[in-house]
Amino acid sequence: MISKETIERIRDTARVEEVVGEFVNLKRRGTNLLGLCPFHSEKTPSFTVSPAKGIYKCFGCGASGDAVKFIMEHEHYSYPDALKYLAKKYNIEIEEILVTPEYQEEQNLKESLYAVNQFAEQFFIDQLWKDPKGQAIGLSYFHERGFSDEIIKKFRLGYAQDDWTHFTMAAQQHGYKLEYLKAVGLTSSGEKNVDVYRGRVMFPIHNITGRVLGFGGRTLKVDKSTPKYINSPESEIYNKSKILYGLFFAKSAIIKEDNCYLVEGYTDVISLHQAGIENVVASSGTSLTEGQIQLIKRYTSNITILYDGDTAGIKASFRGIDMILEAGMNVHVVLFPDGEDPDSFSRKVQHNELINFLNTNRKDFIRFKADVLLHEAGTDPIKRAGVVRDMVESIALIPDGIVRNMFIQQCASIMNIPEQTLFNELNKLRRNKLKEKHKKEGIVPADWDVMQTEPIKIAQPIQLELNTHAQEREIIRLLLNYGYHDLVYHEKNEDGDTIEFREKVYEMIIDELSMDEINFTHPIYQNIYSEFQNFCNHTHSQEAIQQFFIRHDNDEVRNLAIELIIPQYTMSKNWEERLHVFTVPEEEKLHASVVEALHQLRLRHINLMIDDEKKKLKNATDAEEIFSIMEVIKNLEVMKKKLSEELTTVIHPL
Ligand code: UTP
Ligand code: MN
Repeated sequence: MISKETIERIRDTARVEEVVGEFVNLKRRGTNLLGLCPFHSEKTPSFTVSPAKGIYKCFGCGASGDAVKFIMEHEHYSYPDALKYLAKKYNIEIEEILVTPEYQEEQNLKESLYAVNQFAEQFFIDQLWKDPKGQAIGLSYFHERGFSDEIIKKFRLGYAQDDWTHFTMAAQQHGYKLEYLKAVGLTSSGEKNVDVYRGRVMFPIHNITGRVLGFGGRTLKVDKSTPKYINSPESEIYNKSKILYGLFFAKSAIIKEDNCYLVEGYTDVISLHQAGIENVVASSGTSLTEGQIQLIKRYTSNITILYDGDTAGIKASFRGIDMILEAGMNVHVVLFPDGEDPDSFSRKVQHNELINFLNTNRKDFIRFKADVLLHEAGTDPIKRAGVVRDMVESIALIPDGIVRNMFIQQCASIMNIPEQTLFNELNKLRRNKLKEKHKKEGIVPADWDVMQTEPIKIAQPIQLELNTHAQEREIIRLLLNYGYHDLVYHEKNEDGDTIEFREKVYEMIIDELSMDEINFTHPIYQNIYSEFQNFCNHTHSQEAIQQFFIRHDNDEVRNLAIELIIPQYTMSKNWEERLHVFTVPEEEKLHASVVEALHQLRLRHINLMIDDEKKKLKNATDAEEIFSIMEVIKNLEVMKKKLSEELTTVIHPL
């Protein structure tokens, strides 16, 4: 193992701009360097290197890291190999340290299993190309299937003789222990030590660095009693839920295309490669696992599932789609014509036709689900309602709120249902999910209905949403109750003299808000605020303005005004009577209340602006634009910090 000291020396010495600069043409841009991203295809550079921070980041595909990470990703090296590469580049001597015996033993076992598989892979290849039987049976089978020599070699396909001990004997003669041959499932685990793969063409399964973890062996017999494929068992080195067939050969194409095609079988992967589509992997018989999804996510966030024409398995695949959505990735689906699979179809048509077919038949998951389920439901309204619920359930799994909303809109238009109905359903689902989660974590909030899990999209304001506008509510409350009260406060002028200020609450609020150009975001509060402004030109009594709103002919305005005006009397009276506590009347601390309310509103305003900018950042593709948005966000954050500090010193002076 490489010593900690060596690792630190390497990390200290390696300059990110030098390491990256060997592979990417970088140009200076301010304090940073800019180039075309090597991890996805782009025409305008968004790959940024910061020598000061020692990191790179691509604003197009999101790839980021330090010098070591860059070598690992770019050269597909393991961590130790990347370190060794950099050590060599910077002439750093590598100090190896001893590892614990247990660790060493585990590594030794793994290495032995890798070695056995590597021997087997080469053995089966030799059989296929050099042995007369292998040529006559195995190679001619592949040729009949339309596989070219080149593709057979690329995927390291092989042949296992129809013999009981041919392979096991050879392996033992080369010094490979029976124990290991059994552990990887090449020799049967019974007493007889016979070959597991007999008379089969062999598909080696590689991990992302290209090492052989196991095999799929396809029978050449038509006899129904022999299984079509025999696959290696799980072992110390083969964890099926974390392996995708073909990923080793597909990864750079996946990055380049920013999409990964997912197919069912070995032959689908190979045929598509031969047809020129290299960003393809197979889950090989097992249903898709989360580990496999995470593997793909390292290279792209787009998965396109390719299905056979026979629709039997399609509904079972919905679970896989949901898992991909839950991982925050985008799913598309292509359905092949009846009776065709990616393998057969790709051999039938020309490359261009295939690409064209994939592009024109690609549906996003909502469209796909709608087509499949609606076809089944027909015109039965109950069933159609079930379809809607099913679709919203999938949408609810998407972690990103903006993407969720987009699909809700699409679902509404496909199903011809008001968006609001779907949003309600979605909110219900997400709230329940959150409740479940909180229950598991033992958190019990006082009032579930106040908890907002989703910004509710509404045409008409509804009561529930008012809760999220607490700061606007507070300003209105102060205006309705104390707008005409006098504020007397003291401030120092430039000469250091203390000056007494005297103004009405509403004057201070209206002046400050208009100076800061702050509008209310909630329509009902904005409404009351503007009416207040008009009205206060004509009247000069608190009483009159309260009466105006209490008698307002808009139900919502009236109810809200009453709610805001009434409680103060009942509350404080109650408290004093029941608890015999002395409560400071609000009139006496009015200045602090008004200042705090204004500050809180400003803070909220800044937070909303930051959110807006962050949304923009998500959709931004151009590096210039991204930097300028980030600059705006930075400034807003500074303002926010200053405001928060002021808020504590003004309201709670020491
Ligand atoms: P298919 O039956 O479609 O196999 O199963 P295929 O690879 O397309 O082979 P051909 O075209 O008939 O020659 C799809 C995948 O399911 C797994 C394999 O990974 C296969 O590639 N499978 C299938 C098994 O593991 N065992 C089986 O018995 C059958
Ligand atoms: Mn097939």
